Amino acid sequence: MSSSSKATSAEPIDLRSDTVTKPSPAMREAMARAEVGDDVYGEDPTVRRLEEQVAALLGKERGLFVPSGSMANQLAIMGHTRPGDEVVVGEGSHSVWYEVGAGAVLAGVQFAIAGKGGLFDVDALDEAIKPPAFYYPRTSLIAIEDTHNRAGGRVWPITQLRAVTERARARGLASHLDGARLFNACVASGTSPGERAASFDSATVCLSKGLGAPVGSVLTGSVEFITRAHRHRKMLGGGMRQVGILAAAGLYALEHNQARLADDHRNARIFAEELMAARSPHLSVNVAAIDTNIVNVDLDLDAEPVVARARELGLFVGASAQKRIRAVTHLDVDEAAVREAARRLSAATGHA
Ligand SMILES: Cc1ncc(COP(=O)(O)O)c(C=O)c1O
Repeated sequence: MSSSSKATSAEPIDLRSDTVTKPSPAMREAMARAEVGDDVYGEDPTVRRLEEQVAALLGKERGLFVPSGSMANQLAIMGHTRPGDEVVVGEGSHSVWYEVGAGAVLAGVQFAIAGKGGLFDVDALDEAIKPPAFYYPRTSLIAIEDTHNRAGGRVWPITQLRAVTERARARGLASHLDGARLFNACVASGTSPGERAASFDSATVCLSKGLGAPVGSVLTGSVEFITRAHRHRKMLGGGMRQVGILAAAGLYALEHNQARLADDHRNARIFAEELMAARSPHLSVNVAAIDTNIVNVDLDLDAEPVVARARELGLFVGASAQKRIRAVTHLDVDEAAVREAARRLSAATGHA
């Protein structure tokens, strides 16, 4: 645990994202010891091990190590669609909000939003799919986020995941699972990554979020799909050399940091409960909607000034909408830190 976990009143607490964690000494040790080779030549044994391990975990034929979750999503979109196609996503999708319009630039696709709030059902999918006609875009892919980030780390009920992906398949769509925080979904629901990914054609996991690695995601799918993604990764300049140093951090994270995600989920709830107990009239949290490590705090004030005031009080959070703040727990904050964070955020709304 880093020094940022200590909740003394002077020390900053960073809840902007679970990506802010620093590699632990043991993870750094594993990175330093990694056996490496030139991965563009396919000669890095540590990368191979990571790709094979994640592919097995997700029940897919092959894996591909990529620098980021965004690249993994884009490779999936490029691999499953043709220019002019439409991709169905839930409201607040990462690919729509945070990937700089890459779907339009790289794959030439547009997005259709299914349902409200991030998760959606079979009826909403049916409504979002365009019927075949020469003047409509071809709806060719469904991309699902589990957990769903902007929805506040919501976990898809596995029956709903299966129903929606099965309907997609029946209607001729490919399906991609954006599992940036899939391990959070697994720990929260008591299901395995393989179970959650089973009905998808491709699935990705991030190592750099709750698992605490400094960088890296793995995209998985059939041999044919990954062969395509491999070419596209090179096209985007994502061929990396002695990258086993980074893959070693991912392997370490998979081994040591999965089960402990339950601590992050518990701390997210404690944070939310403490916030509500502080009774600031300016904020509210739907505690019952906290499935994992993300807490959406709704305000009756503009979020940006509250974020700025919180920073002065030593709490880093982000504004995710005009009147909404997002806080994310992770392995560098403990229970004492989240209790103190709740006190600081309440004070930042002007309520001591
Ligand atoms: C659901 C989801 N997908 C993809 C990503 C992208 O990951 P990266 O920041 O590694 O590009 C994120 C990042 O937070 C995410 O929340």
